[in-house]
Parts: sequence; C-alpha cells; structure tokens
Amino acid sequence: MKNGLEDVVAAETQLSHVNGEAGELIIRGVSLDHLVGHARYEDVVALLFGGLLGPAPDRAELAKRLGQKRVEVFAHVPAIDDALLELPPVDIMRALIARLPDGDDLDTALRLLAAAAVFLPAALRLKKGETPVAPTPALSHSADILAMLGASVPSKEEVAALDAYLVTISDHGLNASTFASRVVASTKAGLTSSVLAAISALKGPLHGGAPGPVLDMLDAIGMPENAQVWLSEALDHGERLMGFGHRVYRVRDPRADALKGALKQLSAADPANRDRIQLAEAVEQSALAILKVRKPDRPLDVNVEFYTALLLDALKFPREAFTGVFAIGRTVGWIAHAREQALEGRLIRPRSLYVGPMPQKAA
Ligand code: COA
Repeated sequence: MKNGLEDVVAAETQLSHVNGEAGELIIRGVSLDHLVGHARYEDVVALLFGGLLGPAPDRAELAKRLGQKRVEVFAHVPAIDDALLELPPVDIMRALIARLPDGDDLDTALRLLAAAAVFLPAALRLKKGETPVAPTPALSHSADILAMLGASVPSKEEVAALDAYLVTISDHGLNASTFASRVVASTKAGLTSSVLAAISALKGPLHGGAPGPVLDMLDAIGMPENAQVWLSEALDHGERLMGFGHRVYRVRDPRADALKGALKQLSAADPANRDRIQLAEAVEQSALAILKVRKPDRPLDVNVEFYTALLLDALKFPREAFTGVFAIGRTVGWIAHAREQALEGRLIRPRSLYVGPMPQKAA
C-alpha cells in the first residue's frame, strides 16, 4: 500500500513524460521548450488528439471546427441563473458542462474544449453584471477567449501569452485530475463524464487551486524586503507556501520558467508588471532559501502555479478565475488521456487494505 500512490505507475501513456529528476516535460515527443513560444493552442490540440479520435483534421480545419463549437455552446450561457452565479467560476463551468451530451468522438471532444473556453468568460462577465460576449469563430481559440473576457480585440502579445500558458499546461503525466479522467474513461462513461470528474479533482488547493493564493501571498508580502519575515512566519504557523513543492519534480518545474519567459515578454512595456515580477523573484529566492533550511530532507522548488498567478493576472483574469483558466488549458490533456485509456486500458479497479474492526465471533 502506498499512501497517495506515490511512485506507483498506473498507466502507460504516449501523451506526456514528466522527468522529475531532470526537470523536463515532454509532450508527445516534443520538449516543452520547443513548444512554448512556437506552438499555438490549436497545434497542441492536434498533437495530443492525433490518432486518438479518428483521423485528425489539419490545423486550419481544426481551428474552424473549434470556432463553430464555441458558437454552438454559447447557446448554453443563458442557463447561468442567479443560484449558479453565487458559485465560484470553476463550479459554474462544471455545472454548464454537465448539460452537454456524453460521447467518445471528435465532435464531443471539440465541444468540450469550446465549452471550457466559452463558459468561463461568460460566467465572469455575468458575475460583474455585464452581458456575455458571443464568440467570434474566425479568431484563434486564445484570441477569442480574451475577446469574450474583455469585449475588445486583444493585442498580439496578449494572445501569444495566453497561447504560451495553454500550451504549457496542456498535459502533465498522471496528475490527480488526469487520473480522475482516466478512471472514469476506464468505465467507458464518455468524455464529458471524464472532464467533469477531472474538473472536480482540479479545483482543490493542492492541485489547480493554488495560483489564486499565490497572488494573495504576494499582495500580503507587498515589498521584497518583507519576504523573509512573512514567509518564516507563515511556516511557523504550519502553512504551506503556495507555488512551491511538487509530487514529482525534485528540481525546478520546467513550466515555471516557460511561464516566467512569457510573462516577461508580455510585461516588457508595462512598469506595473515589472514591479510585480521583481517582487515575485525576491519572494521566490527567499522562499527557496527558507525551505532549504526548514525542510532539508525534501527538495522543494518553485512549481507551475507561481508564475501562472502573475501571467493570468497580467492578462486581466480575476484571481477567482485562475482554476477555471487552468481547466480551459488542461481539458485537451484530460480528453486525450481518456481516449487513450478507453482504447487501450482496462477498467481501473484497485483494492483497498481493510484496517477496520472485524465482526465479533460468537463465543
Ligand atoms: N511549503 C512548505 N512545506 C511544504 C510545501 C510547501 N509548499 N510542500 C511540501 N512541503 C513539506 C510538507 O510539509 C512535508 O514536510 P514534513 O515531511 O516535514 O511534514 C514535506 O514537504 C512533504 O510534503 P508532502 O505533502 O508529502 O508532499 P506532496 O508530494 O504530497 O505534496 C504538493 C505536493 C504540491 C501538494 C505540496 O508541495 C503543496 O502543498 N504545495 C503547495 C500547493 C501548491 O503549490 N500546489 C500546486 C501544485 S502544482
């Protein structure tokens, strides 16, 4: 029995390889460094879906069909009622996705990708009392997400930054939400069910719920010179530093640097963001030094969530939406893994070790 299934290999996959010792991420044969800044979201969809959902359409056809699906799912937005609007954005997304039909084909897969992208901006606007903005199918997926969020045409730099984010987090081995997706797929329930299970696993603070608290931490620290005292006190109170530590990486998470690079490019012209990056770098350095002393037996380094928080903030996503943006990017990975599991895997059904009381034997 391994608590948390640490180091247990539970699936074979051709989709991504996380090398925790070397700090390397490979997505279907391509190193993350070669994808970020070169590939757009649609390219990574083609890469991950290839061969798993019938013959993959070419990139232009895929972008066109994805645009059509964004228009199709926008029809569900009026289902966001007052009760749903009270919930966090990721819960609103999940509720709306639950209205979609289940299935195992490319059509279902593209509808799910579109749904995540359309429902989050709509929910955010409605929460602010604004009218949702309808999708523009001719835009790229990333450009349309930003257009639906801000109701204006995004800049080239903003679109590139969102593409960099979505590509960076598209897939990542057998993380908790991907495992949840595969467990559901192993019962042949359908892709919509897999995605719903995965979103539910993602929203916890130990997985995709961390970047909002990272920003809260940076705000609370305020200035680089406060970092050391603030972080030490947080650890004294038994808190975990958000944006640090990982189950698999024993070195720096390669996605952190990919996102830091994208953030620097986006922020080149914006002094406010430059100050934020300086603060983040100071906090990172202090945190690493303190964690080394406090947890000498556990190598703890910066993880993907740390710079995610700054990048999404710079793209004007409110912090309550960060987990939902993560879901937009990871849905492609969840679907690819669900298909791989359904095509090649068996029903996932481990056993538990009973440690409870036994019935009394009659004397
Ligand atoms: N801050 C402080 N201490 C941390 C820590 C953090 N961010 N992450 C792990 N630790 C410590 C634990 O307290 C534990 O110490 P102990 O043995 O003295 O009790 C040790 O490191 C091992 O932690 P464990 O919970 O077994 O590691 P895990 O592999 O289960 O956890 C995470 C991985 C990501 C859940 C964990 O590092 C964490 O909670 N990080 C903060 C949340 C976060 O950034 N999540 C996003 C992940 S991408």
